Order: sequence, then C-alpha cells, then structure tokens
Amino acid sequence: MNRENSSINSTTNQTAKKSENAPVQRWFWLRPFLPRKLQPYLRGLRKRLEQQKLNLEEPFRSVYPFTQVSQVRLKSLMQLATRIEEEGIPGDIVECGVLDGGSAALMGDATRKSAHRKLHLFDAWKGLPPSGSEDGEASKKWTGQVVGSSHRVSTIMAEMGIPSERLAFHKGWFSDTFPKAEIEQIALLHIDADFYDPVKFCLETWGPKVSKGGYIQLDDYSEFQGCRSAVDEFLEKYPQMTLNTYGNPTKAYYIHVG
Ligand SMILES: C[S@@+](CC[C@H](N)C(=O)[O-])C[C@H]1O[C@@H](n2cnc3c(N)ncnc32)[C@H](O)[C@@H]1O
Repeated sequence: MNRENSSINSTTNQTAKKSENAPVQRWFWLRPFLPRKLQPYLRGLRKRLEQQKLNLEEPFRSVYPFTQVSQVRLKSLMQLATRIEEEGIPGDIVECGVLDGGSAALMGDATRKSAHRKLHLFDAWKGLPPSGSEDGEASKKWTGQVVGSSHRVSTIMAEMGIPSERLAFHKGWFSDTFPKAEIEQIALLHIDADFYDPVKFCLETWGPKVSKGGYIQLDDYSEFQGCRSAVDEFLEKYPQMTLNTYGNPTKAYYIHVG
C-alpha cells in the first residue's frame, strides 16, 4: 500500500470510530407505512422539488431526480468518463448498483462519442440485500431499502439520448447475473452497492478486467464501513493500484488502475 492509501485509510478509520458506520436514514419513521415499490417515484418527486431550488448545470440538472450520488461524486465520475475517452482507454462501462440510472446516464452522456462502449447495468432493483457482520449494526436498517426502478433507468437514458443499443441490463442479484455476463474489458467501473459482500464481489469479479489506465470509482468508501473494508482488502492484494480522491470536504474515491 502506498503513502496515499495509508493516509486516506487512517483518516477515514478515525472518522468511522467517531461517527456512525452507515449513513443516517432520512424519513425512517415513515418508511414502514410506504410500499417499497413507491420508493423510486416518491424519491423522484422529492428530488424534482429539490432540483428547482438548485442552480445546477447540465447534465447534472437532468440526472438529479434519478440519482442519490452526491454532486462531487457525479463530477468525479464525469471527469473519469471524459478521461477514458481522451486517453482512448479500451473497454466498456460497468455500473454495479444502478437504482434509477442517474449516475449511469451521466457516464453514458460523457462517452457518447464511443458508440461501441456498452453500458453494463447491474442491479436487482429490489432494494439492498441483508447486511453482514462486516457492515456493523448501523447498516442493518438499510436492508430492503433503496429500491430503484429499471423503468426509470430507461426513462432517463431516453431523456439523455443514450441509444438503447449501448445498454445491457443485467437484472437480478449479482451472484446470479455476474457469472452470466460476458464482459471482456472495462474502462470505467462504478461500484455503488453499499455493503461489504457485494462490494467485495464486484471488486473481485470486475477489478481484474479493468484496463491499464482505467478507473474504479467507489461511491460508499467513506459512508459504509463494509465498503471501506472490502476496498482496503482489495488494495492490499493489488499494491500497484492507488486510491485517489477528488473534491473537498466531500470526497469521491477512485482507483486508477496502473
Ligand atoms: C445506492 S443504490 C445505487 C445508486 C445509483 N448509482 C444512483 O445513481 O443513485 C445501490 C443499489 O445497489 C443495488 N444492490 C446492492 N447490492 C446488490 C446485489 N448484491 N445484487 C444486486 N443489486 C444490488 C441495490 O438494489 C440498489 O439499487
């Protein structure tokens, strides 16, 4: 592990000791009363109202109602997607944890000149799976929450003009869909699956397929302790990979594959 990794890890570990190991859940008292299938539509409505008060530029404005990813992390994703285009890094784009498609649509938008780059979209669209012991107590309340909609993914892709031929929907739990997916090479991998087991599985399955010069962005490194452990374990196995950050004080975390 290089010096950059060590300093990032020590900072985030200190944060984890001081604070919750998982994000605070908004509207937790209301959740038992709302059918889970409504979540994507209610979230979309809330985000449309929020969006009106924000002065966002395109394409961040269009994707806002379709994503939970923070603005700084979306900007980082956009920058990485632009870099793989400029640097001609070969491979497809893979997102594990798609929800309503906002972050995926942004990556599709930034790579629209590369019609050959497929956008592989992996999600069960059934909410988060059960958390495990590595995720800690605070993560348990997230199980079954964060329900997205593949229909809403198609809506934002169409709104953004991303051709359907570029899209590969892999609907189901990762344990069922990963073994069936045929992906040769990846230029940009976005992992947004929150918990230890899925993040570890994503890294182990797709990490070795990322091209030299490609990128892996990890949405939950500073939010969920399980994600952080999975990433740290992966980096220990692959010391040639470095963990970088973008933005301050909220940070995006990404690996540049060397
Ligand atoms: C935080 S959301 C993704 C957010 C999204 N990238 C966005 O732009 O808002 C996490 C998603 O990961 C999916 N997920 C987590 N673990 C999974 C697994 N093991 N198999 C399939 N989907 C999974 C959940 O269904 C959920 O939709």
